[in-house]
Amino acid sequence: MNHRANNKKELIICLGSACFSRGNKNAVQVIKDYIKEHQLEEKVYFHGCHCMERCENGPVLKFEDKVYTQVTSERLIYVLDEIFHKYF
Ligand code: FES
Repeated sequence: MNHRANNKKELIICLGSACFSRGNKNAVQVIKDYIKEHQLEEKVYFHGCHCMERCENGPVLKFEDKVYTQVTSERLIYVLDEIFHKYF
């Protein structure tokens, strides 16, 4: 995979219908802005995916091997801070 080749960490947002309608629709732009603001473009490969089959615990984000559940708009920045302070 590309992101492995250039050593990027993978951040995936679930864009399945449940997560999308529960907040991930807006979270895409918030995350893009966060990556830009924190100059993480060279370090993070951010992309969407289909349903991760955790709809009941959505909205869902995944960073590397860890799945973050119930990432509501209220929690999103907190979760991103947690991820990026831990890994970078
Ligand atoms: S739509 Fe996100 S886990 Fe199903």
